[in-house]
Amino acid sequence: MFQINDNYQKLPGSYLFSTIGKKVNEFQKAHPDKEVIRLGIGDVTLPIAPAIIDALHKAVDEMGNAATFRGYAPDLGYEFLRSTIAENDYKARGCEISVDEIFISDGAKSDSGNIQEIFSVNNRIAVCDPVYPVYVDSNVMAGRTGVYDAASETWSDVIYMPCTAENGFVPEFPKETPDLIYLCLPNNPTGTTLPKDKLQEWVDYANRVGAVIIYDAAYEAYISESNVAHSIYECEGAKTCAIELRSFSKNAGFTGVRLGFTVVPKELKCGEVSLNAMWARRHGTKFNGAPYIVQRAGEAVYSQEGKAQLKEQVAYYMKNAKTIKDGLKEAGYTVFGGVNAPYIWLKTPNGMSSWEFFDYLLENANVVGTPGSGFGPSGEGYFRLTAFGNYENTVKALERIQAL
Ligand code: MLT
Repeated sequence: MFQINDNYQKLPGSYLFSTIGKKVNEFQKAHPDKEVIRLGIGDVTLPIAPAIIDALHKAVDEMGNAATFRGYAPDLGYEFLRSTIAENDYKARGCEISVDEIFISDGAKSDSGNIQEIFSVNNRIAVCDPVYPVYVDSNVMAGRTGVYDAASETWSDVIYMPCTAENGFVPEFPKETPDLIYLCLPNNPTGTTLPKDKLQEWVDYANRVGAVIIYDAAYEAYISESNVAHSIYECEGAKTCAIELRSFSKNAGFTGVRLGFTVVPKELKCGEVSLNAMWARRHGTKFNGAPYIVQRAGEAVYSQEGKAQLKEQVAYYMKNAKTIKDGLKEAGYTVFGGVNAPYIWLKTPNGMSSWEFFDYLLENANVVGTPGSGFGPSGEGYFRLTAFGNYENTVKALERIQAL
């Protein structure tokens, strides 16, 4: 008789954004007349920029012509995209990352869930609390997290690094020594980030204790302050301790197109074993490459027109962020984030729990957000709003919240 991977049975509830989607659908069914504004999941609303659409059309035409048709993509990604990334995301920022250290994928969510596979099941992970749920859940599935305690909503074998108002939502070095450290900067969900000198301290710490940092930089395009690093490789020594995950979802609106990449430096080794070679082996075995047309679209992100158009999109969303932040402040809320990230993190009013506030906002303002507790126990009493809505709806949502 077959057996299942019992680790899946340990996962509490369903995936956060599935739960929210279900609740909102139920509300909408019960109140078909209400116009619900969704500022929950960080999904973009602006259409794909024209320069990228042109590249997509061109690539589609190539696929319809025998002379330019392409079959399987190279499993690690097309050279044209990998070299464009190396040039624009790294060389231009003073980081020496070579083409064969860049692995193209169908998005950062898959990579952030899959990367743990190349590490021992005995490794201890450290995560910020609150945290993007994929990091913890994928380690639960792998059997790396121990026993779940429903009362504290924590796993026995996970090292939590609370990020609270008291420490400015910045993680502190944990008391126990971790093997893998997940850092998402600028941060989802709190919208806060670290200045480069503080990030350097994390790199030094990881090198000192022999840990690997899994650095999720999905929101780097939203950095507005000059003292914040866009890549962890801007820090000295990061190539011996860090893997970087990048996404095209938030900077170029590819949430429905799907494209991302992971950087695994060749200097990153466990004894004599190269993690770059391990990830290449894993990628080659389990992944057949992102589609050609999508990789051409990715290349267009770095064209002159693409860059200019995407700068405008980021500015559009950051105007929403300011609208939300200022509007909430005027209404008396305590708010964080929204300066280097498209997320606003607010304290729930009158001691409401995160889910109480979710229901209150949905029922009374018909606005959807994300309960902070869904990201971990230290998120309790907080709530996340996304700046990825359209401007008119964002203004309307704020008017409704202010009128409560
Ligand atoms: C979020 O809302 O946290 C993100 O959009 C989820 C994701 O990127 O997978």
